[in-house]
Amino acid sequence: MEKLAMLYEGKAKKIYDTDNKKYFWVEYKDDATAFNGIKKGTIADKGIVNNKMSAMMFAYLAENGVNTHFVELINDREQVVRRLKMIPLEIVVRNIVAGSLSKRVGKEEGYVLDSPVFELYYKDDSLGDPMVNETHAIALGWATLDQIHDMKEIALKVNALLTEVIDRAGIDLVDYKLEFGVCDGKVMLGDEISPDTCRFWDKETQEKLDKDRFRRDLGKVEEAYAEVYRRIKEAIANA
Ligand code: TMP
Repeated sequence: MEKLAMLYEGKAKKIYDTDNKKYFWVEYKDDATAFNGIKKGTIADKGIVNNKMSAMMFAYLAENGVNTHFVELINDREQVVRRLKMIPLEIVVRNIVAGSLSKRVGKEEGYVLDSPVFELYYKDDSLGDPMVNETHAIALGWATLDQIHDMKEIALKVNALLTEVIDRAGIDLVDYKLEFGVCDGKVMLGDEISPDTCRFWDKETQEKLDKDRFRRDLGKVEEAYAEVYRRIKEAIANA
């Protein structure tokens, strides 16, 4: 397969066309932003960790029956994915209270939820990705009722698979963000799963091993990304 012209540059990735109309070529960058792009920086080798970790997570999910866009890892920073028609929603799944949920409901970070929480955000930077509900998504034509049903079902399956394997790495999967798209009429998991899009806390020390180290200026960002990748890789290898 051949990498052709760049089609789009996002905050963390560049998307290229390929000579196969079914596929995109994705390049992961070291650029990091937070708070809708207000805070900017770079995290050394983040693109390498996120590319390899996302490929590993998607391959693990695919082996366990989840339809994803992942096709193949090309090198340290690049992978090929299926071309999806993206649904303009960010789906946040939460197992433990943290971040914006902690502020919204006035509950301390670390409170273990009785059951997983499923939230929808409308993906629009100019609006700051506002939280919406299912009726907004349907009434505004962003997704159908069936697609929302499929996204929920896939998200719950992803949650069961990932919490189990990440637990075995000695890490709590606190919360994370998923994005979905449609290919050949089927809803599939797209985008990435990485320390940029998940909260990972060490089970013993509660130390944060994710992008909150960058968002909150906690230091040792690169080390946290490398450690979480190493530990989850080992847990998946032993799965
Ligand atoms: P939140 O607590 O800030 O709403 O974040 C929930 C989860 O979603 C957390 O794991 C980080 C992830 N996330 C993204 O991947 N992208 C975003 O733009 C935001 C706001 C959160």
